[in-house]
Amino acid sequence: MGKTLLGISASPRKNGNSELFIKDILKRMGEGWELRMVRLPELDIRPCKACYHCLFDQMRCPQEDDFLATLTLLAEADAYVVAAPVYLLSANGSLKGFLDRGLQFYGFVDRLWAKPGVGVAIAGIDGMEGSGKRDVESFVKLSMGDLRGSAVVYGALPGEVLLSEANGEIAERLARALLDPAMRLKPEGPVCPLCGGDTFRFLPEGRAKCMLCSGSGHWKDENGSLEFQIDPGDHPLFLDRGSVDRHLEWLRGMKGRFLERRQELKAVVKPYLGMGTLLEGQNKMSKK
Ligand SMILES: Cc1cc2nc3c(=O)[nH]c(=O)nc-3n(C[C@H](O)[C@H](O)[C@H](O)COP(=O)(O)O)c2cc1C
Repeated sequence: MGKTLLGISASPRKNGNSELFIKDILKRMGEGWELRMVRLPELDIRPCKACYHCLFDQMRCPQEDDFLATLTLLAEADAYVVAAPVYLLSANGSLKGFLDRGLQFYGFVDRLWAKPGVGVAIAGIDGMEGSGKRDVESFVKLSMGDLRGSAVVYGALPGEVLLSEANGEIAERLARALLDPAMRLKPEGPVCPLCGGDTFRFLPEGRAKCMLCSGSGHWKDENGSLEFQIDPGDHPLFLDRGSVDRHLEWLRGMKGRFLERRQELKAVVKPYLGMGTLLEGQNKMSKK
């Protein structure tokens, strides 16, 4: 039986670079793979309402939109490619919109954990990818996949991404990485020893924080190349299966912590209620 590759495109352009690049990866994966594609901006994916229903009982969101069907496609897939165009120095917002609903991943952990995935950020201007690469990596990691590689590819006009030989080589390497864990791509520069991320925030006193796993620690200069010592901290989200389960338990505990502190919180909030003018839907201004 054939295998399924899920292509998750975060581009509003039909047949734009994101989905063409996904298809190029598929083409290079050889026989036996069927492509299913979702275009996130076309789907009805509503904002998370922070009700936390998805962490309890049936572990499902009460909102009836396209999120669950899309997540089910992801759970059924054998591998996935996430491709997002860079908009204003980060991945298109449809990617984050989907990810914001991601507490529901916990209800699917058995079918999501360690699924092979790769991420591609498509930038129209060489060097202007901003956080795009980290954004697609974050999507694969937080959806509990085995991030086999990620890349920034350049191409502005629809289809342009297919014209460059360098992009073809990247597609080839990502295809191989999806097929074989031994072929996973490793960033060329220094990486976080915990999660393999290569985006960091530098802090005072030689400290640094990995922007993919949020672990923090120190960096040192080893003969001209940076080395990071990073500690996972108290909330590792995806480093191993046990950390996923522990974080879920901690999140569930939030309900009890809220109930315990409810009166204290109510009192502190009270003076702020009714302050300012809230802009409501359909451009109506109303005093609250
Ligand atoms: C609103 C908007 C903002 C953009 N911002 C950036 C940017 O910050 N950096 C960049 O390299 N390209 C930027 N681009 C170019 C797109 O990333 C590029 O055209 C890409 O190929 C689009 O991929 P798609 O065909 O899959 O939609 C922007 C495009 C649009 C429409």
